[in-house]
Amino acid sequence: MENQITIHKPNDFHIHLRDGKALNLTVKHAAENFGKILVMPNLKPPIATTNQAIAYHEKIKNIAKNFADFSPLMTLYLTDNTTPEEIVEAKNSGTIFGVKLYPAGATTNSDAGLSNIQNAYPALEKMQQLGLTLQIHGEVVDKNVDIFDRERIFIETILQPLTQKFPDLKIVLEHITTKDAVNFINESGKNIAATITPQHLMFNRNDLLVGGVKPHFYCLPILKREEHRQALISAIKSGNPKFFAGTDSAPHSQHNKENACGCAGCYSAYHAIELYAEIFDTHKVLNLLDNFLSHFGADFYNLPRNPQKITLIKQAWKVPESFADFDENNDALIPLYAGKELSWKIKDKIY
Ligand code: NCD
Ligand code: ZN
Repeated sequence: MENQITIHKPNDFHIHLRDGKALNLTVKHAAENFGKILVMPNLKPPIATTNQAIAYHEKIKNIAKNFADFSPLMTLYLTDNTTPEEIVEAKNSGTIFGVKLYPAGATTNSDAGLSNIQNAYPALEKMQQLGLTLQIHGEVVDKNVDIFDRERIFIETILQPLTQKFPDLKIVLEHITTKDAVNFINESGKNIAATITPQHLMFNRNDLLVGGVKPHFYCLPILKREEHRQALISAIKSGNPKFFAGTDSAPHSQHNKENACGCAGCYSAYHAIELYAEIFDTHKVLNLLDNFLSHFGADFYNLPRNPQKITLIKQAWKVPESFADFDENNDALIPLYAGKELSWKIKDKIY
C-alpha cells in the first residue's frame, strides 16, 4: 500500500478569509497550504469595486509576506448595480479573477447580493465578452422552497436559462452538493465547471442532525442525503477536469456557531489538503488527487500550474480541537472535524 504521495502545490478556488483580526490566522493557514487561492468577497461591506479588491489584496499579501509562492486571486461581489465599466476595470486590474453571484439572502453576508438576475445582465454580457469568470452560489432563496431542494431548483430555474442567454460565459458553480449539480456539470460545455468542498464529500445530513444538532457541520449549501454525497464521490472519481477543489473554508467564532441561530460555514483552511487526501484514499483514487487539487482549477482559470511540490505521508494525527483568540472578541474557532483523526500529513508542515 502506498504510504507517501507527492503532488504539486495545491490551489483552493473558493475560500473566505474575512477581515480584521481573523485575517491573521486565515491568511497564515491558507499561505501555509496553498499556492493560489480564490478569495471570496462577502465582507461587511462587500468587496464590490476594483479599488476595494486591490486594498484587500494588499492586506492579505502583507500578512503573507514571508510566503513567496502564495497568490491570492481576488473576486468582486456582484450587486444589482455592478456596471460593465466596473467589470472592465476589474479585468484590467490583473488582481481580480472572477465575480461572485450571491442571490440576496442565500447565505452569510449576502444581503447585498442580486435581487433579480436580470439586473446583472449588462455586467454578465461584459464578463462573457472579456472572459471573466462568474462564480455562483447556486441556491434559490424562495422561502417556499425546501432548504434541501434549493440547489436543484436554482439549476432548473436560474442557471439553465442563464447558460442559454450567455452561452460563452465562464461559470463555476461553487460548492456543489447534489447529483443534480453533478449531472448539470457533466452535460454542460467546457466553460462550465464546479468546485467541491471536503465537507460535502465526507459528510451527509445525518452527520449534521442525527443524535442532536451539530452546528459545526452546518454550512450552506446544507449537507444533503447520502445519494448526493455518492454522486459527488463519483464526480471526483471520474477524473473529469470540470470538478476541482474549492474548500469553502468559512470561519465563524465558536460563539456564533454554537448559538440558537448558528452561522453557516465550516473552517478547513488549516487541514483541507489532509481532508481531501483522506477522501481520495478512502475511495482508492489517490492517483487523481494531484489533478483535483493542483491542476484542474488552474487550467480552468487559464493560470499556470504551480511548479512547487508537496509530499503527503500516511501518518495518523488529530485535527486541533480549536484555535484560540481568533477574532476581536478573543473567541475561539472550531475547525471542521475538530479532535478527529486523519491519516495523511504534509511532510515538513509544522502542526
Ligand atoms: C459562507 C460564509 O460563511 O461566508 N458560509 C457557508 O456556509 N458556506 C458563505 C458561503 O459560501 O455560502
Ligand atoms: Zn463560500
